[in-house]
Amino acid sequence: MTRYAEITGWGKALPPTVLSNADLELIVETNDDWITTRSGIKERRISHVPASDMAELAARRAVAAAGVDIEAVDMIVNATCTPESIIPASASYIQAKLGAVNAGAMDLNANCSGFVYGYVTVDSLVRSGAADTVLLVGVERLSRLMDYTDRTTCILFGDGAGAVVIQSTDREAGVCGSEMGVDGTMADILCAPNDGTIEPGSADPRTRIVMNGSDVFRRAVTAMADASESVVRQAGWGLDDIDLLLPHQANQRIIDATARRLKLAPSKVFLNIHAYGNTSSASIPIALTEAIEAGRVPSRANLVFSAFGGGLTWAAAAVRFGERVEPLGVIEDELPKSDRTVWELLQPNFDYFGRLELA
Ligand code: UT7
Repeated sequence: MTRYAEITGWGKALPPTVLSNADLELIVETNDDWITTRSGIKERRISHVPASDMAELAARRAVAAAGVDIEAVDMIVNATCTPESIIPASASYIQAKLGAVNAGAMDLNANCSGFVYGYVTVDSLVRSGAADTVLLVGVERLSRLMDYTDRTTCILFGDGAGAVVIQSTDREAGVCGSEMGVDGTMADILCAPNDGTIEPGSADPRTRIVMNGSDVFRRAVTAMADASESVVRQAGWGLDDIDLLLPHQANQRIIDATARRLKLAPSKVFLNIHAYGNTSSASIPIALTEAIEAGRVPSRANLVFSAFGGGLTWAAAAVRFGERVEPLGVIEDELPKSDRTVWELLQPNFDYFGRLELA
Protein backbone atom coordinates (compact mmCIF):
# COMPACT_ATOMS: atom_id res chain seq x y z
CA MET A 1 0.00 0.00 0.00
CA THR A 2 1.40 3.40 -1.00
CA ARG A 3 1.86 5.83 1.86
CA TYR A 4 0.96 9.50 1.40
CA ALA A 5 1.13 12.56 3.63
CA GLU A 6 -1.99 14.67 4.12
CA ILE A 7 -2.50 18.07 5.74
CA THR A 8 -5.15 17.35 8.38
CA GLY A 9 -4.92 20.44 10.61
CA TRP A 10 -4.14 24.13 10.24
CA GLY A 11 -3.93 27.17 12.49
CA LYS A 12 -2.47 30.64 12.83
CA ALA A 13 -1.62 33.14 15.56
CA LEU A 14 -1.23 36.84 14.91
CA PRO A 15 -0.30 39.29 17.65
CA PRO A 16 -2.97 41.98 18.04
CA THR A 17 -0.79 45.11 17.83
CA VAL A 18 -0.84 46.78 14.41
CA LEU A 19 1.90 48.92 12.85
CA SER A 20 0.14 50.77 10.01
CA ASN A 21 1.54 52.69 7.06
CA ALA A 22 0.28 55.86 8.78
CA ASP A 23 2.33 54.91 11.87
CA LEU A 24 5.43 54.42 9.69
CA GLU A 25 4.91 57.87 8.17
CA LEU A 26 5.61 59.23 11.67
CA ILE A 27 9.04 57.57 11.97
CA VAL A 28 10.56 57.33 8.45
CA GLU A 29 10.37 59.35 5.20
CA THR A 30 7.68 57.29 3.52
CA ASN A 31 3.99 57.41 2.77
CA ASP A 32 1.02 55.10 2.48
CA ASP A 33 0.78 55.54 -1.28
CA TRP A 34 4.43 54.54 -1.88
CA ILE A 35 4.23 51.49 0.37
CA THR A 36 0.88 50.38 -1.07
CA THR A 37 1.79 50.73 -4.74
CA ARG A 38 5.32 49.28 -4.39
CA SER A 39 4.51 46.39 -2.05
CA GLY A 40 0.76 46.01 -1.43
CA ILE A 41 1.28 46.28 2.33
CA LYS A 42 -1.02 48.35 4.55
CA GLU A 43 -0.33 46.93 8.01
CA ARG A 44 1.92 44.50 9.83
CA ARG A 45 1.74 43.01 13.34
CA ILE A 46 4.25 43.53 16.15
CA SER A 47 4.45 40.80 18.78
CA HIS A 48 4.43 41.42 22.53
CA VAL A 49 5.13 37.73 23.23
CA PRO A 50 8.03 35.41 22.36
CA ALA A 51 7.87 33.63 19.01
CA SER A 52 7.27 30.29 20.76
CA ASP A 53 4.04 31.66 22.28
CA MET A 54 2.75 32.52 18.80
CA ALA A 55 3.93 29.13 17.56
CA GLU A 56 2.27 27.33 20.46
CA LEU A 57 -1.13 28.89 19.77
CA ALA A 58 -0.95 28.27 16.00
CA ALA A 59 0.09 24.67 16.75
CA ARG A 60 -2.70 24.10 19.30
CA ARG A 61 -5.21 25.32 16.74
CA ALA A 62 -3.73 23.03 14.06
CA VAL A 63 -3.72 20.03 16.40
CA ALA A 64 -7.37 20.72 17.35
CA ALA A 65 -8.33 21.05 13.67
CA ALA A 66 -6.66 17.68 13.00
CA GLY A 67 -8.49 16.11 15.94
CA VAL A 68 -5.30 14.49 17.28
CA ASP A 69 -3.92 14.33 20.81
CA ILE A 70 -0.69 16.21 21.31
CA GLU A 71 0.88 12.90 22.44
CA ALA A 72 0.35 11.58 18.90
CA VAL A 73 2.74 14.15 17.41
CA ASP A 74 6.02 12.35 16.73
CA MET A 75 7.95 15.22 15.12
CA ILE A 76 7.93 19.02 15.32
CA VAL A 77 9.64 20.94 12.53
CA ASN A 78 9.87 24.65 13.21
CA ALA A 79 10.63 26.77 10.16
CA THR A 80 12.09 30.06 11.35
CA CYS A 81 14.90 32.53 10.76
CA THR A 82 14.21 34.43 13.98
CA PRO A 83 14.76 31.73 16.63
CA GLU A 84 14.56 32.70 20.28
CA SER A 85 17.94 31.07 20.72
CA ILE A 86 20.31 28.88 18.72
CA ILE A 87 20.97 26.54 21.66
CA PRO A 88 18.40 25.26 22.29
CA ALA A 89 16.64 25.39 18.95
CA SER A 90 13.33 27.21 19.25
CA ALA A 91 11.54 23.94 18.48
CA SER A 92 12.46 22.81 22.01
CA TYR A 93 10.49 25.68 23.53
CA ILE A 94 7.51 24.84 21.35
CA GLN A 95 7.71 21.15 22.27
CA ALA A 96 7.82 22.04 25.97
CA LYS A 97 4.92 24.51 25.81
CA LEU A 98 2.78 22.00 23.91
CA GLY A 99 3.72 19.08 26.15
CA ALA A 100 4.45 17.06 23.01
CA VAL A 101 6.18 14.36 25.03
CA ASN A 102 6.51 11.85 22.19
CA ALA A 103 7.93 14.23 19.59
CA GLY A 104 11.36 14.94 18.22
CA ALA A 105 11.87 18.60 17.46
CA MET A 106 14.12 20.67 15.22
CA ASP A 107 14.39 24.12 13.67
CA LEU A 108 14.73 24.47 9.92
CA ASN A 109 16.07 27.72 8.50
CA ALA A 110 15.69 28.45 4.80
CA ASN A 111 14.63 32.05 5.47
CA CYS A 112 11.41 33.03 3.67
CA SER A 113 11.39 29.69 1.83
CA GLY A 114 11.49 27.84 5.17
CA PHE A 115 7.90 26.67 5.26
CA VAL A 116 8.04 25.19 1.75
CA TYR A 117 11.40 23.53 2.45
CA GLY A 118 9.86 22.23 5.67
CA TYR A 119 6.72 21.01 3.94
CA VAL A 120 8.64 19.02 1.31
CA THR A 121 10.91 17.57 4.04
CA VAL A 122 8.00 16.57 6.27
CA ASP A 123 6.09 15.02 3.35
CA SER A 124 9.14 12.82 2.74
CA LEU A 125 9.47 11.89 6.42
CA VAL A 126 5.84 10.80 6.54
CA ARG A 127 5.85 8.96 3.21
CA SER A 128 9.01 7.07 4.17
CA GLY A 129 7.52 5.94 7.48
CA ALA A 130 10.08 7.85 9.57
CA ALA A 131 7.19 9.83 11.10
CA ASP A 132 3.42 9.49 11.28
CA THR A 133 2.03 12.73 12.69
CA VAL A 134 4.13 15.84 12.21
CA LEU A 135 3.58 19.39 13.35
CA LEU A 136 5.12 21.84 10.90
CA VAL A 137 5.30 25.40 12.23
CA GLY A 138 6.33 28.61 10.51
CA VAL A 139 6.92 31.41 12.98
CA GLU A 140 8.78 34.71 12.86
CA ARG A 141 9.40 37.66 15.12
CA LEU A 142 11.03 39.80 12.43
CA SER A 143 10.28 43.05 14.25
CA ARG A 144 13.26 42.16 16.47
CA LEU A 145 15.54 42.42 13.41
CA MET A 146 14.19 45.74 12.14
CA ASP A 147 16.02 49.03 12.11
CA TYR A 148 13.11 51.48 12.15
CA THR A 149 15.34 54.21 10.70
CA ASP A 150 15.78 52.16 7.48
CA ARG A 151 12.77 52.81 5.27
CA THR A 152 13.91 50.25 2.71
CA THR A 153 13.30 47.34 5.11
CA CYS A 154 11.15 48.42 8.07
CA ILE A 155 8.03 48.89 5.96
CA LEU A 156 8.07 45.28 4.80
CA PHE A 157 8.30 42.84 7.68
CA GLY A 158 6.00 41.72 10.49
CA ASP A 159 5.43 39.01 13.10
CA GLY A 160 3.16 35.96 13.14
CA ALA A 161 2.85 32.19 13.16
CA GLY A 162 1.11 29.45 11.21
CA ALA A 163 1.12 25.69 11.62
CA VAL A 164 -0.10 22.54 9.92
CA VAL A 165 -0.45 18.93 11.02
CA ILE A 166 0.65 16.41 8.40
CA GLN A 167 -0.37 12.76 8.81
CA SER A 168 0.13 9.52 6.96
CA THR A 169 -2.72 8.28 4.81
CA ASP A 170 -3.31 5.67 2.11
CA ARG A 171 -5.31 8.11 -0.03
CA GLU A 172 -3.40 10.10 -2.61
CA ALA A 173 -2.38 13.44 -1.09
CA GLY A 174 0.60 15.68 -0.44
CA VAL A 175 3.55 16.74 -2.59
CA CYS A 176 3.04 16.05 -6.32
CA GLY A 177 6.05 18.11 -7.45
CA SER A 178 8.74 20.11 -5.67
CA GLU A 179 11.64 22.49 -6.25
CA MET A 180 14.14 23.70 -3.67
CA GLY A 181 16.93 26.00 -4.80
CA VAL A 182 19.53 28.40 -3.46
CA ASP A 183 22.17 30.81 -4.75
CA GLY A 184 24.48 31.27 -1.78
CA THR A 185 26.84 33.42 -3.85
CA MET A 186 24.26 36.22 -3.68
CA ALA A 187 23.36 35.76 -0.01
CA ASP A 188 24.65 39.17 1.03
CA ILE A 189 21.92 41.07 -0.84
CA LEU A 190 19.48 40.00 1.89
CA CYS A 191 21.05 39.24 5.25
CA ALA A 192 21.45 40.11 8.92
CA PRO A 193 25.22 40.74 9.20
CA ASN A 194 27.25 39.39 12.15
CA ASP A 195 24.44 37.37 13.66
CA GLY A 196 26.41 34.15 14.06
CA THR A 197 29.65 32.50 15.09
CA ILE A 198 32.29 33.94 12.78
CA GLU A 199 34.38 34.90 15.84
CA PRO A 200 33.93 33.93 19.51
CA GLY A 201 31.37 36.32 20.93
CA SER A 202 30.75 37.87 17.53
CA ALA A 203 26.96 37.60 17.51
CA ASP A 204 25.99 41.26 17.31
CA PRO A 205 22.93 42.22 19.37
CA ARG A 206 22.45 45.12 16.96
CA THR A 207 22.16 42.86 13.96
CA ARG A 208 19.35 43.80 11.61
CA ILE A 209 18.07 42.90 8.19
CA VAL A 210 19.77 44.72 5.33
CA MET A 211 18.62 44.26 1.76
CA ASN A 212 19.16 45.41 -1.79
CA GLY A 213 15.42 45.41 -2.44
CA SER A 214 15.36 45.88 -6.19
CA ASP A 215 17.97 43.14 -6.79
CA VAL A 216 16.07 40.72 -4.51
CA PHE A 217 12.85 41.72 -6.27
CA ARG A 218 14.16 40.87 -9.76
CA ARG A 219 15.50 37.49 -8.67
CA ALA A 220 12.31 36.66 -6.74
CA VAL A 221 10.10 37.33 -9.77
CA THR A 222 12.08 34.90 -11.93
CA ALA A 223 12.70 32.20 -9.32
CA MET A 224 9.14 32.02 -7.96
CA ALA A 225 7.59 31.92 -11.41
CA ASP A 226 10.10 29.30 -12.72
CA ALA A 227 9.77 27.09 -9.64
CA SER A 228 5.97 27.28 -9.68
CA GLU A 229 5.80 26.38 -13.36
CA SER A 230 8.20 23.48 -12.80
CA VAL A 231 6.23 21.88 -9.95
CA VAL A 232 2.97 22.11 -11.88
CA ARG A 233 4.68 20.33 -14.79
CA GLN A 234 6.12 17.67 -12.45
CA ALA A 235 2.63 17.08 -11.05
CA GLY A 236 1.32 16.49 -14.56
CA TRP A 237 -1.25 19.26 -14.09
CA GLY A 238 -2.35 21.73 -16.71
CA LEU A 239 -2.51 25.35 -15.58
CA ASP A 240 -6.31 25.01 -15.47
CA ASP A 241 -5.96 22.28 -12.87
CA ILE A 242 -4.60 24.71 -10.25
CA ASP A 243 -7.26 25.56 -7.67
CA LEU A 244 -5.25 28.07 -5.62
CA LEU A 245 -1.77 29.62 -5.57
CA LEU A 246 -0.56 30.25 -2.01
CA PRO A 247 2.52 32.40 -2.55
CA HIS A 248 4.93 33.75 0.04
CA GLN A 249 3.64 37.24 0.83
CA ALA A 250 6.69 39.45 0.26
CA ASN A 251 5.48 41.86 -2.39
CA GLN A 252 2.21 41.93 -4.31
CA ARG A 253 4.04 42.71 -7.55
CA ILE A 254 6.13 39.52 -7.17
CA ILE A 255 2.93 37.55 -6.54
CA ASP A 256 1.22 39.15 -9.55
CA ALA A 257 4.17 38.17 -11.77
CA THR A 258 3.99 34.54 -10.58
CA ALA A 259 0.23 34.51 -11.16
CA ARG A 260 0.68 35.93 -14.67
CA ARG A 261 3.20 33.19 -15.55
CA LEU A 262 0.70 30.54 -14.36
CA LYS A 263 -2.12 32.38 -16.21
CA LEU A 264 -4.19 32.46 -13.01
CA ALA A 265 -7.23 34.65 -12.50
CA PRO A 266 -7.11 36.74 -9.29
CA SER A 267 -9.69 34.41 -7.73
CA LYS A 268 -7.06 31.62 -7.84
CA VAL A 269 -4.40 33.59 -5.97
CA PHE A 270 -4.46 34.04 -2.20
CA LEU A 271 -3.39 37.46 -0.93
CA ASN A 272 -3.22 38.76 2.63
CA ILE A 273 -0.04 40.82 2.33
CA HIS A 274 -2.02 44.02 3.00
CA ALA A 275 -2.75 42.82 6.54
CA TYR A 276 0.52 41.29 7.71
CA GLY A 277 3.38 42.31 5.38
CA ASN A 278 6.19 39.80 5.00
CA THR A 279 6.19 37.26 7.82
CA SER A 280 8.84 35.06 6.15
CA SER A 281 8.38 31.37 7.11
CA ALA A 282 4.99 32.11 8.65
CA SER A 283 3.37 33.65 5.59
CA ILE A 284 2.27 30.52 3.70
CA PRO A 285 0.79 28.61 6.69
CA ILE A 286 -1.06 31.79 7.74
CA ALA A 287 -2.31 32.19 4.15
CA LEU A 288 -3.32 28.52 3.95
CA THR A 289 -5.27 28.75 7.21
CA GLU A 290 -7.10 31.89 6.07
CA ALA A 291 -7.79 30.40 2.63
CA ILE A 292 -9.35 27.28 4.19
CA GLU A 293 -11.39 29.39 6.62
CA ALA A 294 -12.61 31.53 3.71
CA GLY A 295 -13.78 28.42 1.83
CA ARG A 296 -11.21 28.90 -0.93
CA VAL A 297 -9.64 25.44 -0.63
CA PRO A 298 -11.98 22.85 -2.14
CA SER A 299 -11.85 19.25 -1.01
CA ARG A 300 -8.90 17.50 -2.75
CA ALA A 301 -7.70 20.86 -4.09
CA ASN A 302 -4.62 21.27 -6.25
CA LEU A 303 -2.53 23.92 -4.48
CA VAL A 304 0.76 25.58 -5.36
CA PHE A 305 3.05 26.87 -2.60
CA SER A 306 5.83 29.18 -3.83
CA ALA A 307 8.44 31.21 -1.96
CA PHE A 308 11.67 33.17 -2.25
CA GLY A 309 13.92 34.71 0.36
CA GLY A 310 17.26 35.14 2.10
CA GLY A 311 19.93 32.63 1.28
CA LEU A 312 19.04 33.33 -1.51
CA THR A 313 16.56 30.46 -1.38
CA TRP A 314 13.50 29.60 -3.38
CA ALA A 315 11.06 26.71 -3.21
CA ALA A 316 7.76 25.59 -4.62
CA ALA A 317 5.47 22.60 -4.16
CA ALA A 318 2.46 21.30 -6.05
CA VAL A 319 0.21 19.99 -3.29
CA ARG A 320 -2.84 17.74 -3.39
CA PHE A 321 -4.96 18.70 -0.39
CA GLY A 322 -6.98 16.12 1.52
CA GLU A 323 -10.70 15.40 1.54
CA ARG A 324 -11.57 17.32 4.69
CA VAL A 325 -11.54 21.13 4.68
CA GLU A 326 -13.50 21.58 7.93
CA PRO A 327 -11.64 21.51 11.25
CA LEU A 328 -12.46 18.57 13.52
CA GLY A 329 -11.99 20.80 16.55
CA VAL A 330 -11.66 24.49 17.40
CA ILE A 331 -10.07 25.98 20.52
CA GLU A 332 -10.98 29.28 22.09
CA ASP A 333 -7.50 30.17 23.42
CA GLU A 334 -6.01 33.54 22.43
CA LEU A 335 -2.65 35.20 22.94
CA PRO A 336 -2.52 37.18 26.18
CA LYS A 337 -3.75 40.76 25.80
CA SER A 338 -1.07 43.42 25.43
CA ASP A 339 -1.16 46.58 27.54
CA ARG A 340 1.62 48.24 25.52
CA THR A 341 1.33 50.59 22.54
CA VAL A 342 3.10 49.80 19.29
CA TRP A 343 5.70 52.47 20.16
CA GLU A 344 6.35 50.85 23.53
CA LEU A 345 6.84 47.50 21.81
CA LEU A 346 9.33 49.07 19.38
CA GLN A 347 11.26 50.98 22.06
CA PRO A 348 14.06 48.34 22.24
CA ASN A 349 14.62 48.84 18.48
CA PHE A 350 14.71 52.62 18.92
CA ASP A 351 17.19 52.17 21.79
CA TYR A 352 19.52 50.15 19.54
CA PHE A 353 19.19 51.82 16.17
CA GLY A 354 17.90 55.27 17.04
CA ARG A 355 14.74 56.96 15.90
CA LEU A 356 14.62 59.58 13.17
CA GLU A 357 13.48 63.07 14.09
CA LEU A 358 11.18 63.98 11.21
CA ALA A 359 10.46 67.64 10.64
O1 UT7 B 1 10.86 37.65 1.45
C1 UT7 B 1 11.65 37.79 0.33
C2 UT7 B 1 12.59 38.88 0.49
N1 UT7 B 1 12.15 40.18 0.22
C3 UT7 B 1 11.57 40.58 -0.91
O2 UT7 B 1 11.16 39.82 -1.73
C4 UT7 B 1 11.49 42.05 -1.14
C5 UT7 B 1 11.87 42.36 -2.56
N2 UT7 B 1 11.90 43.76 -2.86
C6 UT7 B 1 10.84 44.57 -2.85
O3 UT7 B 1 9.77 44.18 -2.41
C7 UT7 B 1 10.96 45.95 -3.45
O4 UT7 B 1 12.25 46.08 -4.02
C8 UT7 B 1 10.77 47.09 -2.42
C9 UT7 B 1 9.28 47.20 -2.05
C10 UT7 B 1 11.61 46.85 -1.21
C11 UT7 B 1 11.16 48.43 -3.06
O5 UT7 B 1 10.47 48.64 -4.26
P1 UT7 B 1 11.26 49.07 -5.61
O6 UT7 B 1 10.24 49.35 -6.62
O7 UT7 B 1 12.26 47.98 -5.88
O8 UT7 B 1 11.96 50.40 -5.18
P2 UT7 B 1 13.51 50.77 -5.16
O9 UT7 B 1 14.22 50.03 -4.09
O10 UT7 B 1 14.04 50.68 -6.55
O11 UT7 B 1 13.43 52.31 -4.74
C12 UT7 B 1 12.81 53.29 -5.56
C13 UT7 B 1 12.90 54.63 -4.87
C14 UT7 B 1 14.31 54.97 -4.39
O12 UT7 B 1 14.50 56.37 -4.55
P3 UT7 B 1 15.36 56.92 -5.81
O13 UT7 B 1 16.72 56.29 -5.64
O14 UT7 B 1 14.63 56.43 -7.03
O15 UT7 B 1 15.32 58.39 -5.60
C15 UT7 B 1 14.26 54.67 -2.91
O16 UT7 B 1 15.19 55.43 -2.17
O17 UT7 B 1 12.08 54.64 -3.69
C16 UT7 B 1 12.85 55.05 -2.56
N3 UT7 B 1 12.36 54.36 -1.36
C17 UT7 B 1 11.29 54.77 -0.67
N4 UT7 B 1 10.46 55.83 -0.80
C18 UT7 B 1 9.46 55.96 0.08
C19 UT7 B 1 12.82 53.21 -0.82
N5 UT7 B 1 12.08 52.87 0.24
C20 UT7 B 1 11.12 53.82 0.36
C21 UT7 B 1 10.06 54.02 1.26
N6 UT7 B 1 9.25 55.08 1.08
N7 UT7 B 1 9.80 53.16 2.27
